[in-house]
Amino acid sequence: MSIKIKIMLNQSTQDSPISPLPQLQNAVPIEQTETTGRYYDVYEVVEPNQVVNYWRTGNSFFFETENKTTLEIRVFNHDVIRFRYAPKGKFERDFSYALSPTFQEDDDQEISLQASSTQFSVITYHLIAVIDKANLMISIYDKNGVLLNKDQAPFRAIYTLLHGLTEVKVSKMAYHQEVFLGLGDKASKLNLRGSIKQNWNTDAFAFDQHRDPMYRSIPFYCGLHSKIGYGIFMDNTYRSHFDFAATDPKTTTFFAEGGEMNYYFIYGPKLMDVVENYAEITGSAPMPPLWALGFHQCRWSYFPEARVREVAQEFRDRNIPCDAIYLDIDYMDGYRCFTWDEKHFPNPTAMIKDLENQGFKTVVMIDPGLRVDEDYEVYQSGLAVDAYCKRTSGELMVGPVWPPACVFPDFTRPDVRAWWGKCYEELYLTQGVSGFWNDMNEPAMFKVDRLTFPDEVLHDFDGAPTNHRKAHNIYGQQMSKATYEGLKALNPEKRPFLLSRATYSGGQRYAAIWTGDNVASWEHLHLANVQVQRLSMSGFSFVGSDIGGFAGTPTGELMIRWLQLGIFHPLFRVHSMGNNTGGANETEQELIHEIERINRLDQEPWAFGEEYTALAKAAIELRYQLLPYLYSKFYDHYFMGTPIIRSLVLYDQEDPNTYDLESEFLFGESILVCPVERSLYARRIDIRY
Ligand code: NOJ
Repeated sequence: MSIKIKIMLNQSTQDSPISPLPQLQNAVPIEQTETTGRYYDVYEVVEPNQVVNYWRTGNSFFFETENKTTLEIRVFNHDVIRFRYAPKGKFERDFSYALSPTFQEDDDQEISLQASSTQFSVITYHLIAVIDKANLMISIYDKNGVLLNKDQAPFRAIYTLLHGLTEVKVSKMAYHQEVFLGLGDKASKLNLRGSIKQNWNTDAFAFDQHRDPMYRSIPFYCGLHSKIGYGIFMDNTYRSHFDFAATDPKTTTFFAEGGEMNYYFIYGPKLMDVVENYAEITGSAPMPPLWALGFHQCRWSYFPEARVREVAQEFRDRNIPCDAIYLDIDYMDGYRCFTWDEKHFPNPTAMIKDLENQGFKTVVMIDPGLRVDEDYEVYQSGLAVDAYCKRTSGELMVGPVWPPACVFPDFTRPDVRAWWGKCYEELYLTQGVSGFWNDMNEPAMFKVDRLTFPDEVLHDFDGAPTNHRKAHNIYGQQMSKATYEGLKALNPEKRPFLLSRATYSGGQRYAAIWTGDNVASWEHLHLANVQVQRLSMSGFSFVGSDIGGFAGTPTGELMIRWLQLGIFHPLFRVHSMGNNTGGANETEQELIHEIERINRLDQEPWAFGEEYTALAKAAIELRYQLLPYLYSKFYDHYFMGTPIIRSLVLYDQEDPNTYDLESEFLFGESILVCPVERSLYARRIDIRY
């Protein structure tokens, strides 16, 4: 929801016909309607004033202002301090889907509080947080007295009469030429300085570098100035916004459209330390099965069974290594998750077994939208446990995705997650599927511009019911959790392999991700490079792109260059939409039909002629040679949170030349990768962000 605030914040409220409001004492009108003299809405801005009270509980320090705003500063350890604001004195439940269960406060810390006439200082071993008594503005210094981060304006919250709390905002001073990094899957240039971004999980089909929001919400960024790195993680699942010195070169702001301002300041000073500390807070990817680090061949869709077998055989005949074959939505019976299309896949168990004997694992798609169909067992079993999301009226939330009418499990309810996990039993334990692919879990919905649920849809949020404004960005992450934990429960001995599209911070503990529906173009080869680096420094190391491009078809040369980049991406998967048109709008469909007339749009390693096949084979073989190295780097990531892919700025932040170098990266600490990106260098096509 966005509300245009047209009236100056300090404007008198005297003319407001519905003022004074008991709950909005300083209410200010928004857009007066000439005919009625009333307003579209009225709002109140809350900013902290003079501190009148403070106390300490354990490692938390509380500061209460005269107008009843309370700030909690909690020192988790020497490098991680959390700031939480209660604008009207009452904190929300202290609950997070992002935090790793192993993240704990360090009990054994020396922390002291000092007070002067104008400020308080919370002093830890590495950091000093100074709080201005007049307005709760924060300045954070390192132990050498270097100013790391400073509020540019006091924290503020905005309440409106019609919508309640609509904004919680922090403004920070941006240093001259400060570099900003992170924030997940944004496709624009690596250094975010000068850009405005938002987090609202979105089905971003055929995105480009300007597209925002994208599929995932990872409200974590790193700042780098004076060669010192730090991080900020705003743990808030509402739609959130970040302005990296774009509107004002001296200010970086972040705000969410509701909930609590709850952010972690994470010290470096090395960016690698910041990223590892962030992984301590939100977790890292579990060790995958080794096969999941091999080569994966995917397409929308390999079917019928004969085509799947043909592709598998071709790999073996040509002696091209490949560990996984994917079945996209067409393996299902009418897009009913957890079923098989018996006409095209008469004996899935036998097929999967034969593939296994040839050295292939089978990975299948599972979407969150379940077909409304009285005769569909999974739909019925969900109804029986009241698993599906509802509107405020109590009606089921029914919407079109692949089937024209779907219901959607509320993955924010623990018993629904448990039910969902059990739905995998037959595919996983009986039929022998090895991995799962959770798609469309933004959640995506067809037909409406909004691309997702209305705000009014209700969610349990693990016992604190709320609406979709708060639960939207967490839906995919909780679907991953339900799937991952379900697979673990079904077979505790086995490491699950799960791939998810949408997620939130912390989702790396459950699933690998891919960058979404990209395009077969040289520009997208570069975007894949940047997105994977960015995701990697944002906590998601198990990541890759649709090699060759999802929409459209690559030339042989582009395909090879993309495969060569993919060797160094932890998820090494070719995927394409082939000649499908689903989900595309009319213009996109026309384009796709045009290309479809030419051929079937295959993207297997041999689809571009023998010369390219040899190159593709060599690339895939190189990946297999590097597997022991990748596996060790994965272990470092799992154990320490160390990113597998490292942008050069993470490697050498002392050298300003690295700040805007986004084409090259390190794969582990020992291999420098510089993929060939013709669009930027040979053809000199300008990428404008
Ligand atoms: C959208 C996904 O992003 C894509 O990878 C998949 O092939 C299609 N859905 C069809 O399931």
